[in-house]
Amino acid sequence: MDWKTIDACRRCETLPQRVEVRGWVRTRRDSKGGFSFIEVNDGTCLGNLQVVAPGELDNYASEVQKLTAGCSVVVQGELVESPAKGQSTELHAQSVRVIGWCDGETYPLQKKRHSFEKLREWSHLRARTNTLGAVMRVRNRLSQSIHRFFDDAGFYYLHTPIVTASDCEGAGEMFRVTTLDLEKLAGSNRPFDPSQDFFGKPTHLTVSGQLEGETYASALSKIYTFGPTFRAENSNTSRHLAEFWMVEPEAAFFDLRDNMKLAESFLKHIFSDVLEHCAEDMEFFDQRIEKGKIDQVKSVIEKPFEHMTYTEAVDRLTSSKESFEYPVKWGIDLQAEHEKYLTQLVDGPLILTDYPSTIKPFYMRVSDDEKTVAAMDVLVPGVGEIIGGSQREERLDVLLRRMNEAGLDEKEYWWYIDLRRFGSVPHAGFGLGLERAVQYATGMTNIRDVIPFPRTPGNAEF
Ligand code: 4AD
Ligand code: MG
Repeated sequence: MDWKTIDACRRCETLPQRVEVRGWVRTRRDSKGGFSFIEVNDGTCLGNLQVVAPGELDNYASEVQKLTAGCSVVVQGELVESPAKGQSTELHAQSVRVIGWCDGETYPLQKKRHSFEKLREWSHLRARTNTLGAVMRVRNRLSQSIHRFFDDAGFYYLHTPIVTASDCEGAGEMFRVTTLDLEKLAGSNRPFDPSQDFFGKPTHLTVSGQLEGETYASALSKIYTFGPTFRAENSNTSRHLAEFWMVEPEAAFFDLRDNMKLAESFLKHIFSDVLEHCAEDMEFFDQRIEKGKIDQVKSVIEKPFEHMTYTEAVDRLTSSKESFEYPVKWGIDLQAEHEKYLTQLVDGPLILTDYPSTIKPFYMRVSDDEKTVAAMDVLVPGVGEIIGGSQREERLDVLLRRMNEAGLDEKEYWWYIDLRRFGSVPHAGFGLGLERAVQYATGMTNIRDVIPFPRTPGNAEF
């Protein structure tokens, strides 16, 4: 007979029902009554499905009673209402097929709880834990709702290149791409010559898809990119990765105000979507990772974001009684501690605008005061900067001046400059770091625990 294969989290079917479930054993407990309880998880939800395996099964003594955590199984049987507390259904097995055994001696995910730091040593297995499973489901939901939001708002999904010759952020924190054997070169005393390399010029992994995004916004009006970006910044912090995923909308005929509105409605949308569709996982984060998380996320959805200029923020910081590690004065780049103070001050998300031009990249639009640019950062409690964006400089002469000041070679950016020659328009956009959004939604303290395989200085094991 045919068995209907269901996810282990499917609990609200009409009962009883004959079903098949496939997954990995979390625990096995043999009862005195001659049967066993097997907790099976297939990653579709937080909870395990309890399988009751009767002693009459052909392979009961030979296999079922040897099952350990990590074994993969296919169970067929009758899904019934469970008399046990804490679960609505259980599966009365008619067969338990062992698909893959798991060596209990060497399997690292035993019953003992491991620290997140320890779990990072097993990036290939840690998604089998409750927390990492829940994180990855939330990450998935956020990614899907990001696409849905922009699609509904009329933005086209654009694939920008990973290998690029331009440095969008101008911070020089780029990973070089080369086919030349640098080790051999180092031994040979021959100078490194990029013109002999694959692309005939120095190329890097992209730090942002923005510049290429701007070209397409100048044709399709509204686009967004969503892909991996790379930063060779040697910062070992709980909110920086060398490889992270960034969402970057760019819209023609948008100014800074439009950009701020878009960012706010975007964040409200994706966080309310995750609250609705990952309710069980969010409850888990609220209970186990950060108490009050759900209410905090709700406040982002319900409260209008506060606005503050950089200058006002500096005033607030300098007049506060707080003692900061990095002293504050107009012109500094705000540090995590300052962002934390400001989000606490307004008790919620905050959009900071009009930063000094000296600390922001060449492409941001210079304001009338000539000292500031039309920049915006969105800060959220606990994480700090989650979004960075700006209105772009659409005036050819000002852009050229800014590039010159930044020491950029106009020849390298001829195509970007062309956009200001051929039907230039005011335009704006921003970048959201996906991992920071996942951190905010889940309350996970370390960014390394919200991406499947974290890349950080000295670490690319998997
Ligand atoms: O503020 P950033 O550097 O802005 C840009 O790259 C712009 N080109 C975006 C744009 O306007 N299209 O980065 C944007 C966001 C940050 O706010 C942060 O959330 C995230 O990307 N981010 C990082 N996330 C993890 N690890 C890092 N090293 C990150 N650097 C930036
Ligand atoms: Mg930034």
